[in-house]
Amino acid sequence: MAYKEIYERSLSDPEGFWMEQAQAIDWDTPPSKALFADRAPLYEWFKDAQVNTCYNAVDRHVENGRGAQAAIIYDSPVTDTKRTITYAELQSQVAAIAGVLASKGIEAGDRVIIYMPMVPEALVAMLACARIGAVHSVVFGGFASHELAVRIDDATPKAIIAGSCGIEPGRVVEYKPLLDGAIEEAGHKPEFCLIFQRNEARASMIEGRDFDWVEAQEGVEPAPCTPVSGDHPAYILYTSGTTGQPKGVVRPTAGHLVALNWTMPNIYNVGPGDVFWAASDVGWVVGHSYICYAPLIHGCTTVVFEGKPVGTPDAGTFWRVISEHGVKSFFTAPTAFRAVKRVDPKGEFIAKYDLSGLDQIFLAGERADPDTIEWMQDKLGKPVIDHWWQTETGFTIAGNPWGIEQMPIKIGSPTVAMPGYDVQILSDDGHPVPDGELGAIAVKLPLPPGTLPTLWNAEGRFRKSYLDTFPGYYETGDAGMKDEDGYLWIMARTDDVINVAGHRLSTGGMEEVLAGHPDVAECAVIGVADQLKGQLPLGFLCLSSGVNRPHEEIVKEVVARVRDKIGPVAAFKLACVVERLPKTRSGKILRATMVNIANGTPYKMPATIDDPAILDEIAEALKELGYPAS
Ligand code: COA
Ligand code: AMP
Repeated sequence: MAYKEIYERSLSDPEGFWMEQAQAIDWDTPPSKALFADRAPLYEWFKDAQVNTCYNAVDRHVENGRGAQAAIIYDSPVTDTKRTITYAELQSQVAAIAGVLASKGIEAGDRVIIYMPMVPEALVAMLACARIGAVHSVVFGGFASHELAVRIDDATPKAIIAGSCGIEPGRVVEYKPLLDGAIEEAGHKPEFCLIFQRNEARASMIEGRDFDWVEAQEGVEPAPCTPVSGDHPAYILYTSGTTGQPKGVVRPTAGHLVALNWTMPNIYNVGPGDVFWAASDVGWVVGHSYICYAPLIHGCTTVVFEGKPVGTPDAGTFWRVISEHGVKSFFTAPTAFRAVKRVDPKGEFIAKYDLSGLDQIFLAGERADPDTIEWMQDKLGKPVIDHWWQTETGFTIAGNPWGIEQMPIKIGSPTVAMPGYDVQILSDDGHPVPDGELGAIAVKLPLPPGTLPTLWNAEGRFRKSYLDTFPGYYETGDAGMKDEDGYLWIMARTDDVINVAGHRLSTGGMEEVLAGHPDVAECAVIGVADQLKGQLPLGFLCLSSGVNRPHEEIVKEVVARVRDKIGPVAAFKLACVVERLPKTRSGKILRATMVNIANGTPYKMPATIDDPAILDEIAEALKELGYPAS
């Protein structure tokens, strides 16, 4: 069947379509039906099934003869390590850690926070939780103590599993002091921590609370897989919203299994035994879906890469890993290729490696700019496929169904809606707009299996953030359009979320941190265009009256404050002091206008502006920071 037929069937007969896909999963009790709509507009899939994610990702492959196949290839240029873990080895490692967790009282439904670098043990920890029905919440290593504390208080984990350190180019990031600080700051306290010690920086342990990953396994029985119900949360993953309080996206177990398994052959064009590599981090949704779960559920080999696209040691790292490990499908964020292109514009490193086994490359996480795609196509001679999705959905909303039908690539568009997603472009009043016109991108409910059924402990916020604006639809938070061929074009966020090097960050969250500085009376953070990272945050500070310290000092302090509170990943390095912020007469800060001034894009003077002269002051301040960039 071609794409159109499959897509139309998924919308006209979702029950039949998804029950068929569900046959690829090994159920303890199969679902009696796919969709449960009794709580609409809150929908659930495969709710009455019993199933275990770890069994489907690991054990069944061992039982089906894949025990000796590589499940994980770990390639770490920053520690000069390469290691292969077979499915059989993965099974025993995961069962052992699951046994440790169970022996210390972790039961199905208990939360476990995972704060680990890109090592195979991060996947082992995730799968060990899944094995016993515990709900993991992985926190990205680039977040600081405070962000970890916020997540500890929201998820209330019984345990935390952490690495002793991560390795960033030029420095070792010790995780343990960050973890200890977070536990001290948080109101909720975990019962115990399991620490994976790395030689680059060994953690000092707190007697009675912290246990060593290796020692804790001694004398402990491996744990079997515990079946859970289809709607059981597989994990919680926090993502940025408009405020500093992140949203805890809940991933439902059964839909996650069915949807991810479907994507591997149909979108990523790989089958069992193929090597698949997503160069991201387990702290992001790409890492959850495509470093850990989907490749393993489908019986592929996944690559865990601990390094950067450039500088570890050079801009040829991607190509070395692809050729050395026989990667068939490669997935990363456009920013990674922009980094490579900047260092190796002629693609000289590419020519040094045999990339004949690589069939295609996938991009997501941010807008794929045409320059980068064209450079990749030209230098690699491989299809470069953009696709659009979000933490909330866990898999592609719009993509090119490469394993079904290779649709013509239109550079700048992630192609078409994937099965189960009835994507529509709506006007402010919620009506579909004609093709070619800009609007809010929404998806008619129900969303397909695997997408978020709610936010952790925050159903009201879930409804308000996603369901209330356009009744009957899920609001994606992105704006864009559909063309006459049904291709989607994703243009911008409709909220205060920015995208920095493929990382989703909240300007509202940064404003909360700036506002906490004693000398700052008012502030605004905007995302300005950046050649490498896509966007960078830039802060405007209005000082409290009577403050006459040097502005550079205050700027330095707020930069340090964001790094300390949110983490280095915020990449907040630009700020300036201004007298006033431009506002509407009703007091709303005109952030979009400031973005236009910073980017040098033409804009219309907002009709409701209170004092247009302030825009000149903003332009002056931006000029001193070098914006618009030439
Ligand atoms: N632990 C601790 N610190 C981290 C970290 C981690 N896991 N990840 C990043 N950081 C730090 C970086 O060291 C950097 O610190 P610095 O300000 O001292 O230099 C800061 O956070 C910003 O990191 P990043 O935005 O990643 O910038 P970079 O300059 O280190 O690298 C790229 C730029 C483009 C090479 C890098 O962002 C990249 O590889 N991106 C791939 C995209 C990706 O993985 N996206 C995820 C979704 S698909
Ligand atoms: P995250 O939840 O971190 O994956 O970020 C999701 C957001 O990143 C989306 O809502 C978009 O704003 C942006 N995004 C992701 N993929 C793409 C893409 N292919 N094109 C444009 N924007 C994208």
